[in-house]
Amino acid sequence: MKVTVIGTGHVGLVTCVTFASIGHDVIGTDVDSEKIELLARGISPFYEAGLEEAMHTETSSGRLAFTVDAPSALREAEVVFICVGTPARADGEANLVAMEQTASQIARHAQDDVVVVEKSTVPAGTADRVRTTLQREGKGLRFHMASNPEFLREGMAIHDALEPDRIVVGVESARGLDVLRRLYAPLLEAGAPLIVTDIRTAELAKHASNAFLALKISFANALARVCEHADADVTTVADIMGADPRIGRAFLDAGLGYGGYCFPKDVAALKHLSERFGYPFPLLGEVERVNDEAVAAIAAKVREALWNLEGKRIAILGLAFKPDTDDVRFSPALALARLLLAAGAHVVGCDPRAASGAKEEVPELELANDVYEAASGAHALVIGTDWTEFRGLQLAALREVMTYPLIVDGRNLLDPSDFVGSGFWYYPTGRPPVIPEPSRSGGGVDGSEPASAPRQPTPLW
Ligand code: UGA
Repeated sequence: MKVTVIGTGHVGLVTCVTFASIGHDVIGTDVDSEKIELLARGISPFYEAGLEEAMHTETSSGRLAFTVDAPSALREAEVVFICVGTPARADGEANLVAMEQTASQIARHAQDDVVVVEKSTVPAGTADRVRTTLQREGKGLRFHMASNPEFLREGMAIHDALEPDRIVVGVESARGLDVLRRLYAPLLEAGAPLIVTDIRTAELAKHASNAFLALKISFANALARVCEHADADVTTVADIMGADPRIGRAFLDAGLGYGGYCFPKDVAALKHLSERFGYPFPLLGEVERVNDEAVAAIAAKVREALWNLEGKRIAILGLAFKPDTDDVRFSPALALARLLLAAGAHVVGCDPRAASGAKEEVPELELANDVYEAASGAHALVIGTDWTEFRGLQLAALREVMTYPLIVDGRNLLDPSDFVGSGFWYYPTGRPPVIPEPSRSGGGVDGSEPASAPRQPTPLW
């Protein structure tokens, strides 16, 4: 089929590549000409595992091309996917200006009977607006609206696109359903479950899925606070809860909380939408509050362990919003860096892929090339992102270079048992800390010791 994808960000580009890989002729277009120029040269503007390689394969096969010329990309398309950004406005409302502009472009340049599919995450009811714009500007052409939300995790996007746990299709016409069925035929034949519904339900289901995952994370983080007071271990509590298939273990990892371009914006947009309908959905406000508090709690823990933050050097390992991406948008690790900087600390960070993006977001941040360079002279080291690379920290080497042997694990990445007898003060999240025995404590390499070494961190508020 002839497919045009408008918007070549994380979602749009993966959509281009994966539809091409299952045999369709795909053209990706974007208003950002620099991005299209990069793509035409085979370079992805962001890191996503396997994406660049897949792009090369599909462009060389002739099934995938990119252009800034949207009118020509639209002229031949049987189906158009809208994958433009829907960022949050200051009050949480989704900004749908790009959706409207795209609708108007489709109306002016697409052919009769085209199927127009929303893949961008949008509030329920957006397709009605898109349809009205198409009707007003389309000069009598027939359009078939559909919604086909994406459930792609950054870092796993190609896998999630080609082996989806559900394909959701919101339609209002037989043609819309037929086109989407034919488009996804290879995945449906391979066993991907298809859920067909109306458009508003499909739109809402995407927001609901992300908000519910965010809710699970905030539940784990609220529980972590209780565990710290109760001297219990939130990781084991989550394992026990997760053993019940009705609950599930995924997304119950406590730490710095959720970030990225999707969860914060989608929780806010769903809250805003329900407020507009007269239902404030207070649960979502709590999800956001607990998430903000997760970062503040780790900052308070660092301060508690160091006594004062002024003049202290703090290393943050991991700056991306999660591992296996270079994306720092709404990264909790950067939110932490900002809090520590505001409190007078000197913050040095390192990340396998996100260092330069982080520096753009937080210019006061000093960058280090690797873990040991970051740790050099540091009074505390904080795990900010759970990159696998940080699992194998050499504690003896860290002790050599750090001013204080102190680690705050904002992602519960490390194994507490490795710290027993190590001389380190190890503070995980929602789990009992590991503190050196006073008699056996050697302190830092210069003989200095952390300012306080409580058995339990002092209550954070
Ligand atoms: C998320 C969803 O998982 C995808 O299904 C969805 O399609 C995508 O948003 C989207 O709307 O486009 P993504 O933003 O890539 O995907 O990130 P996740 O893997 O969901 O992680 C989100 C955040 O939650 C990260 O900051 C991660 O560190 C954090 N997290 C995750 C926790 O703090 N605890 C957990 O247990 C799990």
